[in-house]
Amino acid sequence: MTTKKLNRNVPNAFSDGNQFLLRLTYVSRAADSLDSKQLTEILKQARINNTEKGITGILVFNKNYFLQCVEGSRIAINELLNTLVADNRHHDLQIIEAREVNERIWGEWSMDYVSPNPSNQSLFLKYSSSRDFNPYLMNARSTEWLLSALSEAQHQRKSNTPKSSGILAKLKIA
Ligand SMILES: Cc1cc2nc3c(=O)[nH]c(=O)nc-3n(C[C@H](O)[C@H](O)[C@H](O)COP(=O)(O)O)c2cc1C
Repeated sequence: MTTKKLNRNVPNAFSDGNQFLLRLTYVSRAADSLDSKQLTEILKQARINNTEKGITGILVFNKNYFLQCVEGSRIAINELLNTLVADNRHHDLQIIEAREVNERIWGEWSMDYVSPNPSNQSLFLKYSSSRDFNPYLMNARSTEWLLSALSEAQHQRKSNTPKSSGILAKLKIA
């Protein structure tokens, strides 16, 4: 049997899994002490770091639940996950889905942000499996649809672009 020797002098550019694009969705509960100032700080921090690390995504905050989807290289997402788990501004982090994907859904946003307002209340309930919004009770597919619908509704309000041109359309072909 012949053994092929690895040339140790040639660095393997892909040895760290950096070539894979990972999409991670999780839910968590905000700390009781979390206030709007801290929320603004989280968003600011996320946008700066994510731009640097090639991470894109969306963060939703409603009824003290965080629902976040992040996508980026496998290594960047795993590093972020470790940081998130250690962050005491939220707790009970549960991964809803981690999936290798071919393209980004949130490519335009270092961190899109959606909070409840009168025009999106019905969407929160449309994709929930409970009478009240509780993302711990939602499955991966419903979560993906909810995040996409919320983001599209928000950006449609701002720019008046046709609804089918964006993320929901991407999901339909995914
Ligand atoms: C709900 C929630 C979402 C967060 N999202 C991100 C994120 O997308 N990117 C990020 O870098 N940090 C995010 N953070 C903050 C990280 O947990 C951590 O505090 C931060 O990355 C540390 O950044 P620094 O090393 O620049 O201080 C989030 C924190 C919380 C509580």
